[in-house]
Amino acid sequence: MRVEPWWRTAAVYQVYIRSFKDGNGDGTGDIAGLRSKLPYLRDLGVDAVWINPWYTSPLLDGGYDVADYRNIDPRFGDVDQAVEFIAEAAKHGIRVLVDLVPNHTSWEHAWFRAALEAGPGSPERERYHFLPGSGPDGSEPPNDWRAVFGGSAWERVPDGEWYLHLFDISQPDLNWEHPEVREEFDSILRFWLDRGASGFRVDVAHSLVKAPGYPDTGDEENEENLLTGTLFSRHPYWDRPELHEIVRRWRATLGEYPDAMMVAEAWVSDLERLANYLRPDEYHQAFDFDFLQAPWDAEKMRIAIDESMDAVGSVGSIPTWVLSNHDVVRHATRYGLPNEVEAKVWLLDGDRSLLDPVLGERRARAAALLLLALPGSVYMYQGEELGLPEVTELPVDVLEDPVWVRSGHTEKGRDGCRVPIPWTVEGDSAGFGDGGSWLPQPAGWGARSVEAQTGRADSILQLYRSALRLRREHLTSDLEIEWLDSPKTSLAFRRGSGLRCIVNFGPDPIPVEGEVLLSSVELSAGFLPPDAAAWLR
Ligand code: NOJ
Repeated sequence: MRVEPWWRTAAVYQVYIRSFKDGNGDGTGDIAGLRSKLPYLRDLGVDAVWINPWYTSPLLDGGYDVADYRNIDPRFGDVDQAVEFIAEAAKHGIRVLVDLVPNHTSWEHAWFRAALEAGPGSPERERYHFLPGSGPDGSEPPNDWRAVFGGSAWERVPDGEWYLHLFDISQPDLNWEHPEVREEFDSILRFWLDRGASGFRVDVAHSLVKAPGYPDTGDEENEENLLTGTLFSRHPYWDRPELHEIVRRWRATLGEYPDAMMVAEAWVSDLERLANYLRPDEYHQAFDFDFLQAPWDAEKMRIAIDESMDAVGSVGSIPTWVLSNHDVVRHATRYGLPNEVEAKVWLLDGDRSLLDPVLGERRARAAALLLLALPGSVYMYQGEELGLPEVTELPVDVLEDPVWVRSGHTEKGRDGCRVPIPWTVEGDSAGFGDGGSWLPQPAGWGARSVEAQTGRADSILQLYRSALRLRREHLTSDLEIEWLDSPKTSLAFRRGSGLRCIVNFGPDPIPVEGEVLLSSVELSAGFLPPDAAAWLR
């Protein structure tokens, strides 16, 4: 019998460590806190955790500005604690994936400091992208490239040169043509694999390589393209074909470690191009952001699912489903807004009466049963198992996301999905820690806590627990999916084990037959109500 690699059907839980559980009462989540919640994660039934960057960092982009890839930020702990955590997680049957941030370092990284000090023309500057400016006195940026968070992608240093940063100014892009950069990352991979990590989530996997000569994008819709992730085929810095050689190099290194894997965060909207990242000698997985972005609509969801399955299937890979992460508005809120409203734009000053939070949560429950019934692997973002909504009313003076400032205060950014987790009904920061929380929690957060939901048969936490258990029993031994006839505003499919999943996106109840294994709401007299899902046999 062929034994499937573990990751092909894994249920992975994303830990935004800063907001998960504070072990030392300083208001910031940490390794000690995370470790104390391993029994919770085991009981939830996850196979692995992916931990957002925990490395030494000024945290100007939540840790995606890494100053030292081989060290843990003191606010989170230290390397010994990380190693102990990984070992203890293994005892609970939980693997650990860490974040790899290869496109850029922090401006506090030793290499960037050395580059600033060494000055123009130095070998130290060659590890990054330093260029003279344009215009008669070099006071204009070298070209028209735009940063994802807003503004030019170039920043001038006092000696007159400019450096490239596709994200915040504190995140200078590395030069992947430089052999030392490539060697350094091979060594970083080994560092964490040698300490027990099972693999990596790779940040901005569609960047890395920049076009020779730094040509202008010259595209009027450039900014729009950046925001939506819509790419054209020969963009000067997104999705360059040359980057695949680097991926193959990493894959070869991972191949020396049994069971190691890597998952790409690649925002390429064209699924055929995404499939390139999943060729047998490249990434093991790539997040399916089409599914994440699909509105609450049966037909659109079905298209997203089918197209993804076809694309990944074309290279012999598997789908990797996800509904929320630390970069997007939580789906319990997205699904509570009309489909045509763009949640992240609405967050700033959109009409609040458009949001129906009860509907959003109801749909989030149904979405959980859809997500967990699909073939392949799933990633869940911390708090989605509690049905947490986006915290929409964070006052702007507490926002930390660089998006808020860099967008010129036109986008509120991603802090609303990063608010610390409520663990208990009462108590300081709803059990997050003894020292408050780095982002304020809204009133009533404790009512959504783990404590409040544990042992309550109708809670969303209980739904996730039951679904993850049934998923292990019925849904992880094959990748078969067969679509079944069902009303137009619903989706129904059967998995290889015979388990059927039905999701009702429409306004009317639909009849269902068979033994109900699990449902997102109670069924009445053989009917599945609107905005609900069921697993049947
Ligand atoms: C994607 C990460 O998920 C996001 O949080 C970060 O801001 C950017 N990459 C830049 O590293």
